[in-house]
Amino acid sequence: MEIIEVRGGRTLAGSIAPPAAKNSVLPLLAATLLCGAPCRLRGVPRLTDVDTSLALLTAVGAKAARCGRDVLTAPVPLLGGDIPPHLAGAMRSSVFYLAPLLVRAGQVRLPMPGGCRLGPRPVDIHLDGLAAMGAQIEFAADAVVLRRAGRLHGTDFTLRLPSVGATETLLMAASCAEGTTVLRGAACEPEVEDLAGFLTACGARITGAGTPVVVIRGRAGGLDGCAYTPLPDRISATTYAAAVAAAGGDVTIRRCRPSTFATFLDFLRAAGCEVHAGPNAVRICRDARTPLKGGQELFAAAWPGFATDAAPLAAAVLLTADGPSRIYDGLFQNRFACAAGFAALGAGVRANGRELAIDGGAALCGTVVTAPDLRGGAALVVAALAAQGKTCVLDEGHIRRGYQSLPAELASLGAACRPA
Ligand code: EPU
Repeated sequence: MEIIEVRGGRTLAGSIAPPAAKNSVLPLLAATLLCGAPCRLRGVPRLTDVDTSLALLTAVGAKAARCGRDVLTAPVPLLGGDIPPHLAGAMRSSVFYLAPLLVRAGQVRLPMPGGCRLGPRPVDIHLDGLAAMGAQIEFAADAVVLRRAGRLHGTDFTLRLPSVGATETLLMAASCAEGTTVLRGAACEPEVEDLAGFLTACGARITGAGTPVVVIRGRAGGLDGCAYTPLPDRISATTYAAAVAAAGGDVTIRRCRPSTFATFLDFLRAAGCEVHAGPNAVRICRDARTPLKGGQELFAAAWPGFATDAAPLAAAVLLTADGPSRIYDGLFQNRFACAAGFAALGAGVRANGRELAIDGGAALCGTVVTAPDLRGGAALVVAALAAQGKTCVLDEGHIRRGYQSLPAELASLGAACRPA
C-alpha cells in the first residue's frame, strides 16, 4: 500500500512539462514486435504499466530494455504466443499484444486483461476485427486463444463503437496483413494518430488516422524500425491544470499540445480560470480567494468530446465551486468510484451509475481516503489540494500505473504533497 500525503491550502506556481503519454507508449511498445529492425522510443516514463509491458515483451522472447530515458528494442527471429496470466491481469494494455503476437507467433493466448475497474470492458471489437482478417478464435475457461492458418488479410470492417484499443489493435494487424484494410467508425483520439505515426515511420502505409475512416495498405513482409518520440501525456497535463484550478495559483504547462485537451481548458475557462493557450504551452491562473463557477454540465465522450479520463479531475475542481454541477460519462459505467473519497473530504456528491451530481460550495477538510482507480486516485489528490489540513490518499498502486511520481510533480509547483 502506498500513501500520498497532501496538506491543502497552498497555491501553486511555476512550470511543468508532462511526460510522454502512457496511452501512446503502451501500444507502441506492443507494436515494436512487428518491426524487423531496432526501435528507440524516446522519453518513456517510469510507470508500472511500462514495467509490466517490458516484462511481457521479455516473457514472449522479445528484446526490449530501458536505456536511460528511452526504451530500445531489437528484433528476434522467434516469439512465443503465451501471455503469462500475472502480466495479463496486471493491466488492460495486455490486450495490445493480441495482434502483434498473432502476426509474429501465429497464435496467441491472452488470459483475462486487468486494469481499472471502470465497468465492463469487453474485447469483442478487437476479436471481431481480427476474425474478419482471418483469425480463428477460441474461448478457453480463463483465456482467449487466437490462431491464424495463413497470413492475416485485409478487410472492410466497421467498429460497432469507436473503441480506442480496438482501433489500435486493428491498425497493428492491418499494417502487416496481405492487402488493404478499411476501418470505419474508428476512434480518432490523438493516441491513435500517434500509433499510426509510429507505424508509418516503420514503413506502414496508413491514411486517415485521426478520422473515422482509416485505410491501411498492408506490408505482409513486416515493418522496419524507427526512433520515435511519443506525444505528450494530455491526461497528465489535464491533471496539472486541474490541480492549479483546485488550489489556485499561476502555472504554465510546457511542451503539452493544448489542442489535445482543449475541452478541459474550455471547461476551466467556463469555471472562471484564466487560460492562455499557445500551440505548445498553456498558462492557467486562478485567484484562490474567488470561488469557481458551478452550474457546469459535462458529458464525457469519445474524441473530440470531453475525455472520460478527465471527468473525475473535473469533478475534483467543481467540489468547491459556487453552485451544483453534473458530469455524465458516456464511455464507462463506473467512472466515479472516487465519489466516496470526495464525500469523505466533505463534498456533497452523489454517484448514480454513469452520472455524478455535485452540490458545490463544499468546505473540504483533510481525512483518509482510498484511490479506487488511476484517474479517480489522481482526482482525490487534486481535491485534497483544496482541503483544509492533511489528507492521506491510500493507494494499492493505481496511481503509479499512470503517473511516474504525482506527489513530486505537484510538489515541484509548490504543493505540500509527498509519499508518506
Ligand atoms: N468496448 C467494448 N468492446 C471492445 C472495446 C471497448 O464494448 O472490444 C467499450 C468499453 O467497454 C468502453 C468503451 O468501449 O465502454 C470505450 O473503450 P475503449 O476501447 O475506447 O477504451 P480502452 O482502449 O480500453 C483507452 C485508454 C483509457 C481511456 C479510454 C477512452 C489505454 C491503455 N487506455 O482504453 O485510459 O479511458 O481509451 O479514451 O489507451 C487511463 O489511462 O486511465 C485509461 C483508462
